[in-house]
Amino acid sequence: MCGIVGYIGPKNAYPILLKGLKRLEYRGYDSAGVALLQNGNTVIYKKKGKVSELENYCNNKATFTNIGIAHTRWATHGEPNDINAHPHHSMNGLFTIIHNGIIENYEKIKEDLSAKGYHFYGQTDSEVLANLIEYMYAEGEHVNAELAVRMALSRVVGAYGLVVMCKNEPEQLIAARKSSPLAVGIGEGEYFLASDATPMIEYTKNVVYLNDNDVAILTRNSFTLKTVHADDELQPEIQQLELSVGELEKNGYEHFMLKEIFEQPKTIADSYRGRIDPETKEIVLGGLSEVMPRILEAKRIVIIACGTSWHAALIGEYLIEEFAQVPVEVEYASEYRYRKPIIRPDDVVLAISQSGETADTMAAIRLAKEKGALVLGICNVVGSSIARETHAGVYTHAGVEIGVASTKAFTAQVTVLILLAMRLARKHQTITDERYFSVVDSLLSVPDKLESILISHPKIKEIALKYKDSINALYLGRGYLFPVALEGALKLKEISYIHAEGYAAGEMKHGPIALIDSNLPVVVVAAKDRYYEKVVSNIQEVKARKGNIIAIVTEGDSALRAMVEDVIEIPKSDEVITPLLAVIPLQLLAYYMAVLRGCDVDQPRNLAKSVTVE
Ligand code: G6P
Repeated sequence: MCGIVGYIGPKNAYPILLKGLKRLEYRGYDSAGVALLQNGNTVIYKKKGKVSELENYCNNKATFTNIGIAHTRWATHGEPNDINAHPHHSMNGLFTIIHNGIIENYEKIKEDLSAKGYHFYGQTDSEVLANLIEYMYAEGEHVNAELAVRMALSRVVGAYGLVVMCKNEPEQLIAARKSSPLAVGIGEGEYFLASDATPMIEYTKNVVYLNDNDVAILTRNSFTLKTVHADDELQPEIQQLELSVGELEKNGYEHFMLKEIFEQPKTIADSYRGRIDPETKEIVLGGLSEVMPRILEAKRIVIIACGTSWHAALIGEYLIEEFAQVPVEVEYASEYRYRKPIIRPDDVVLAISQSGETADTMAAIRLAKEKGALVLGICNVVGSSIARETHAGVYTHAGVEIGVASTKAFTAQVTVLILLAMRLARKHQTITDERYFSVVDSLLSVPDKLESILISHPKIKEIALKYKDSINALYLGRGYLFPVALEGALKLKEISYIHAEGYAAGEMKHGPIALIDSNLPVVVVAAKDRYYEKVVSNIQEVKARKGNIIAIVTEGDSALRAMVEDVIEIPKSDEVITPLLAVIPLQLLAYYMAVLRGCDVDQPRNLAKSVTVE
C-alpha cells in the first residue's frame, strides 16, 4: 500500500528518495511522485505507473536539493493518474504533503474550504488536508507550519502517515502518524522518514517508530517530538534495526517470491530456533511467559486475521482445539470489528499478521482490548503497530517478506502456532508425552524435508506449463490440509489472475462439483493422514467427471500416482506438520503458472503488501 520517504540533511535528497521508493515498491502502488524544496521553491514531479517511469521523467530535470519527500500511491479516493498521485500541494503552494491513510471527513472539510474560496485540482482527500493546513497557517495569528499541521490534524477524522514541507519554513520536515505507520531514521546531521524501515536501512540502524498522534519536527540537527494535541516535548524512543540490506535484494533469484519460497527451510527453523529446549524438548515462548497464567485460564481463544494469515489461523484452530482442548474461533478481522461480537474479559484474542499493520486487524485488536480481553499477536515485522499494541506476543522471525503474495510468512506463522498449541497442550496436560515428542521431532525435521520438496521445482514447472492457460482451478483438502487448499487457491489467484477456489473436499458435492469438466485442473492435497481414504473418494468423484487432477501425495503413494494426471510428492511426516510441507508445491505451482503467463509476480495488479486502509 502507499509508501512514504522523506529526507533532510547534507546529501542530495533526490537519489535517496528514488531509491527509497524502489525499496517500497513491494508494498503495491499505482503512481509515484517526488517533491523537492529548491531555493525557496517547491518542485513536484509525479507519474502514473512504476517508479522507473517517474525516474525517466525526472532524468532531464534539475533534482538537486537537501530536502524532499516522495510517495508511492495505491489509489483509494480518485483514480490512479498523474494528478491524483502524491505529493499534493495546497492552493497557494505553501504546503506540500505526502499522505498514507484516509481522511474520512474530507468531504465536509472540502465543502468548508470551498466556501472560503479554496479550489481543488484533484479528487483526493490528501489534497484537502494540504489545503486545511494552509488555511490554518494563513488564517491564524502567530501560527507557524508546525502549529498549522497540528491544528489541521485535530480537525481530521481518519488515518494518516503524513509528511509536510512548508515553502516558508524550508529547513524542516513535519511528520505525523495516526493508524498508519511512520518511522524516523536518525543519521549524522540527517534524518530519514519512511512508512517502513526498508528505505533507510542503507544509511542508519537507529530508528524511532512514531506512535499514534505523534508529530515529529525534523531539521538537519534536531528532532522534536510532540503530539497533535499538546505542545510538550516527548522523548523519542530509539530502536535498533535488525534488517540487513542483503535481505532486500533478490540474491540471484528471478523474483523475491521465488527467493522467499526457497528461504523456507531456514525461516521455519528461525521461527522455532531458541524456542525448543534441545535437551528436554520443552517449548518456551518468552513473549508469552508473563501472560501465560491468563492464557491458561481462557475459556476461549479467538483468532483474528486477514488473507493468508487467516489461513494460518484456521490451522491454529485445528491445532489448539485438538491438542490443548480450548475452544477456538477464527474470524476475519474486517467482519469481527463491525459485527458486534461477544468479547469477554476471560477471552484471549490472538491477532496474526505478517506486516503488523493491517488496518482491520488493528481495529479488531483495539475493540478486543476495550472489552477487556487479553490480546496477543503473532507478527513478522518487529516494532510494527500490532506488535506494539498487543499485550504480549510472538514474533515469527521470517525476515522481510517482499513478494506481495505471502509465502515464508505463512509457514512461519504455522510454525509458531504449532509451538503455541504444543505449549498449551503441555500446560493443560491434554497431550501424551509420546504424541508431544513426536510432533516436536517432526517439526524439527521440516527444514530437511523442505529441501527435498524444493528440489522438485522443475517438475512443478512442467505441470504449470500444462495448466497455465486454465481459466479456473479448484483446490481441495481436508483436516489440516483444508486451509492449505485455501492458501494454494489464494496464491494462484493473487499472482496468475486465474480464478481459483479452495474448498474443504467434503464440501465439493455441495456446489463446486458443478464446475468440473475436462478443462478444470483440480489440485487435491492428499497426503496420507486420517482423512486419506475420504480424499481418495473425492478424487474418484472428480475423475468420474473428467477433471484433471494434480495431487500432492505422500512419497511412495503408488495408488494415487496411478489414479491421477499429475503427482507431486512430499515426504512423510506427522499429519499436523504436513501443512508446512504441502503448501510448498502449491506456492511453486502458483509461482510458475504466473511467470509462464507473463504476470508481475512480485507486484501483482491491484494488490498491496501491507493493507493500511480498511
Ligand atoms: C494483504 C496481502 C496478503 C496478506 C494480507 C494480510 O492482502 O497481500 O498477502 O495475507 O494482506 O496481511 P497481514 O500483514 O496482516 O498478514
